[in-house]
Amino acid sequence: MATTSLDARDGAPGGAAPALLEVDDLTVSIGGNRLLSEVSLNIRSGELVGLVGESGSGKTLTGLSLLGLLPPDASAQGSVRFDGVDMLKADGERRRRLRGSELSMIFQEPRASLHPSRPVGKQIVDVIRAHGPVRAADARRQAVDMLGMAGLPDPRHTMDAYIHQLSGGMCQRVMIAMALVCRPRLLVADEPTTALDVTIQAQVISLLRRLAAELDLAVLLITHNLGVVSTLCSRVVTMYCGQVVNDDSAEQLLGAPQHPYASALVRASDVSLDHPDDRAGITGAPANPARPPDGCRFHPRCPHAEKRCAEHVPALEPAPQGGRTRCLRSHELVLPGVGA
Ligand SMILES: Nc1ncnc2c1ncn2[C@@H]1O[C@H](COP(=O)(O)OP(=O)(O)O)[C@@H](O)[C@H]1O
Ligand SMILES: [Mg+2]
Repeated sequence: MATTSLDARDGAPGGAAPALLEVDDLTVSIGGNRLLSEVSLNIRSGELVGLVGESGSGKTLTGLSLLGLLPPDASAQGSVRFDGVDMLKADGERRRRLRGSELSMIFQEPRASLHPSRPVGKQIVDVIRAHGPVRAADARRQAVDMLGMAGLPDPRHTMDAYIHQLSGGMCQRVMIAMALVCRPRLLVADEPTTALDVTIQAQVISLLRRLAAELDLAVLLITHNLGVVSTLCSRVVTMYCGQVVNDDSAEQLLGAPQHPYASALVRASDVSLDHPDDRAGITGAPANPARPPDGCRFHPRCPHAEKRCAEHVPALEPAPQGGRTRCLRSHELVLPGVGA
């Protein structure tokens, strides 16, 4: 059921291409708390998709689910199919083989994912050799090439460096090189620029854009920064309280959002820097996904909520201007975005 609505939903060029990744009704619980509820989204080969939402909305758990990296005490229902393989059901060995070679993930704090007392080049060579028999000299050459592609100015020198000798931006480039050296088809980038200063953020985003094009890589960019999303992604999935509430083209989301939460998020974000007086916070605190409100989960904070919004649970359905949205009032509301 979900597959049909997903395929029909956005009319993007190449819409007939099968999804590389299809997430259907993914529900994740930890310690008896349901933290993700019926998440569905898909990504086609080479597509750049943003995943946005306030802190605690479930973005990282969604990303981890895609790679089969949920904590051991988590239980997951639904399906996460990568190129036909269900990542939730595949055995540990199969998932390990797919990670790195087919899908990869990078995190906000690259230093935490790199070994402090092993030269970064050796760590990249380890990744290459973990995925197949490659001669040491060939692996080293591949690592140097990938560091060069990731924009490290002196890749041979960087091979022998330790992370404490590198800046935050260089560490993130090393992380990206390590994630992409086995040429995966999907990169999940979880807040990859949040720890970096603004100039370096822009460089890392343009690096991701270039590498995605050169390597025909699909990217799921997790961020709370709509400005970052708007420069990289053609489509954006918005999460609230453990659910997908909106899935739209970036243009639609920013210009004329179709969900009240998406509208509030866009207007509260950095993309409205041109109109600083317009900036509006989102009133109230995010709902706890383990104890969501009745009806629409956003209704207690929604300026457009009516009585029925507290009583009926909206489904994620095709939205009036394309994409999908989860709002009982989507056909009658005209919501502000940013820009124009
Ligand atoms: N390992 C965990 N154990 C228990 N709760 C968790 C764990 N990881 C995340 N959560 C909870 O799940 C929700 C979603 O978290 P997360 O996916 O990290 O959100 P986001 O990345 O959008 O900030 C939050 O309420 C968070 O507290
Ligand atoms: Mg997170």
